[in-house]
Amino acid sequence: MPNRIIVGAQWGDEGKAKVVDYLTEDADYVIRFQGGANAGHTVEVGDQKFVFHLLPSGLMHPDKVCIIGNGVVLDPEQLLHEIEEVRVKGIDAQGRLWLSEAAQVVLPTHKILDQLKEKAAGKDAIGTTGRGIGPAYYDKVNRTGIRVGDLLEDGLREKLERTLAVHNEIITRLYNSAPVSVDTIYTEYRALGERLRPYIKDCVPLLSQALKQNKSLLFEGAQGTILDVDHGTYPFVTSSNTVAGAACTGSGVGPTAVQQVIGVVKAYTTRVGNGPFPTEISGGLGAELRRIGNEYGATTGRERRCGWFDAVVVRRAAMVNGLTHLAVTKLDVLDTFEELKLCVAYQLNGERVEHFPVSIARLEQVEPIYETMPGWKSDTTKILRYEDLPVNAKNYLQRLSELVDVPIGLLSLGPKRHETIRMGI
Ligand code: GDP
Ligand code: IMO
Ligand code: MG
Repeated sequence: MPNRIIVGAQWGDEGKAKVVDYLTEDADYVIRFQGGANAGHTVEVGDQKFVFHLLPSGLMHPDKVCIIGNGVVLDPEQLLHEIEEVRVKGIDAQGRLWLSEAAQVVLPTHKILDQLKEKAAGKDAIGTTGRGIGPAYYDKVNRTGIRVGDLLEDGLREKLERTLAVHNEIITRLYNSAPVSVDTIYTEYRALGERLRPYIKDCVPLLSQALKQNKSLLFEGAQGTILDVDHGTYPFVTSSNTVAGAACTGSGVGPTAVQQVIGVVKAYTTRVGNGPFPTEISGGLGAELRRIGNEYGATTGRERRCGWFDAVVVRRAAMVNGLTHLAVTKLDVLDTFEELKLCVAYQLNGERVEHFPVSIARLEQVEPIYETMPGWKSDTTKILRYEDLPVNAKNYLQRLSELVDVPIGLLSLGPKRHETIRMGI
């Protein structure tokens, strides 16, 4: 089986977890490689439903190995909560879940700083998830972060003292808020480290050995390409690289190991948080998409902004990820629509623009150029074969794929594992 990277090709929440859970059947190892508990990954199998924030979405398959790679920022308490949540439902993670020693630890002060910064930013806020992601990556890149392996080592107290001293300076002086106690955090994180001890490992040799044994790896991206810190709508982005290249840096596996890169896209577009969104539909139809698609954030419960499929966005994603396939999700959400629009290009200052603008000042000024297609007005949720889709649904998918110039490898027609059609992957 090929080694595959799964990434979001829009603004997140594309249904990556559903696709990862489905394709885990082909894999031996499932690896989260970036992001943190800002992710909300929904997996539904039979009558069980989980929203994972840190656990890899392959965990529902009892015989697969799951890894949280070095590129992740890990909130120990949240992870232990998720491990317990699945355990009570009969899913045991111990012995097959491994956390990279080199992953960064999210501290309580990272969450405090995230929230204070957002509050102070007022109307310029990014609309973060408040999970401490930005400050945790800041400390990583600043070389002042605490790594998962540090939780088990003697130097933890000194490292925490150094890092928390700076956090407390910012909390008290810049934001006029109450400082945290280093003693309390040290005691708490020492204990959390002990509880995580059975899971902590150097994951690089493990993955290298897996490759030598011809095991198959499935990399699970979080967020989406247009939230990538380099390639997204900066500064309205997350703080990690969300693109396929991050699967290598965030796990310690070289790019030569990867054969397929699958971009997950909704059959329309959503975005949570602030920042430009050219095909957003305000009012009636947007609210209709939200209602039918149940578009509320899996992490924060916020309303997701909804709009038409934007081929300019996904063309960008195809370039920066090197997509070999698309996995199109939530086609069923469009079942009742009379007409559907596809954004094929943008209009900017009277000119047609085919490429996603790098500058958000320009992106804020674009007008989408739409093609309109007739809807299919019938229920697709029970369909098991591509051939059996209504002709208008096939035409819509064909056009979407043509506009992005990437073949569709998988189609999802409902949240559950079995509501999926494989199309040549
Ligand atoms: P992720 O962050 O990309 O994993 O996606 P989320 O879990 O945040 O959001 C996707 C939502 O859509 C979840 O509630 C899924 O259960 C649901 N979902 C996934 N695929 C489909 C589909 O094909 N049809 C429908 N109706 N829902 C889907
Ligand atoms: P999954 O993996 C959708 C958005 C936030 C905010 C911006 C920065 O479920 O697709 P952060 O907390 O990361 O600093 O917030 O990124 N965001 C997501 N939007 N899905 C996600 O993850 C997201 N993770 C972060 O709403 O706009
Ligand atoms: Mg999500």
